[in-house]
Amino acid sequence: MSSKLLLSGPPGTGKTTFARALCNSLQAPLVVTSVSTWLQGGHLSDVIARMARTFAEALALAPAILFIDEIDGIGKRQPAEREYADYWNAVVNKALELLDGAVKSEGLVIVGARPDDIDEALKRSGRLETHIEIPKPDVAALSEIFAHHLGEDIAVLLAGASGEADTANEAQAENPVIATQDDGLPDDADEGADAHMERDDTQKGART
Ligand SMILES: Nc1ncnc2c1ncn2[C@@H]1O[C@H](COP(=O)(O)OP(=O)(O)O)[C@@H](O)[C@H]1O
Ligand SMILES: [Mg+2]
Repeated sequence: MSSKLLLSGPPGTGKTTFARALCNSLQAPLVVTSVSTWLQGGHLSDVIARMARTFAEALALAPAILFIDEIDGIGKRQPAEREYADYWNAVVNKALELLDGAVKSEGLVIVGARPDDIDEALKRSGRLETHIEIPKPDVAALSEIFAHHLGEDIAVLLAGASGEADTANEAQAENPVIATQDDGLPDDADEGADAHMERDDTQKGART
C-alpha cells in the first residue's frame, strides 16, 4: 500500500481533519508543517535547512505521519532564463530529494494537501503517488458532520425543523449556539472538535 498521499479539494473540506483522523486511527505521531513555514524569511539556505529539518524530525519519530499543508507553495521547476529560476529549482529539487529519501525509509506516511499546481515530478510513482480528491460534502455527508459537531443538540434542531417542537425547543433551535453554551461546551463547534483532536494528538506525543 502506498503511504504517500496528496489530498486536494476546496478549503474547509477536511484535509487537515483527515490527517488528524489518520493519526488517531494509526496511533502514530503527527508532524504538521506547511510550505509557507518553510518559505518564511525566504533565504534559500534557510528554506532548504527548514525542509530538511522537518523530514529529519518526522523520520526520527517513525512510524509517524508527516502532514505538509499548502504543498503547492513548493511550485514548479522553471526554465533557467526565468527570474528566480535557480531559487525555485533548488526548492523543488530539495523536495524531490527528501521525498525519495523518505520513500526508502519505512514507516513514514506523508500527506500533502492542496496540490493544485505543483511540479509533476512530485506526483510521480514512488513519490506522492496516491491522489485523493475531497469534494464539498453532499447532503448526507453534511448531516453526518452536523451530527458529529452538535452531538445531542442535533435532536433539538431536528425537532424544530419538523415543526413538532414545543416553545422551549423552538427557542433553542433558533439559536443552537446558546444551547451549546448551556451544555458547557465551547461556543464554536468547530473549535470544540479541533480542541478535542489536539488533545488526542498531544496525548500521543504528536508535534513534539
Ligand atoms: N468530515 C468531517 N467531519 C467532521 N468535521 C469536519 C469534516 N471535514 C471538515 N470538518 C470540519 O471543518 C473544519 C475545516 O476542516 P479542515 O480539515 O481544516 O479543512 P481543510 O484542511 O481542507 O481546509 C474543521 O474545523 C473540521 O472540524
Ligand atoms: Mg487545512
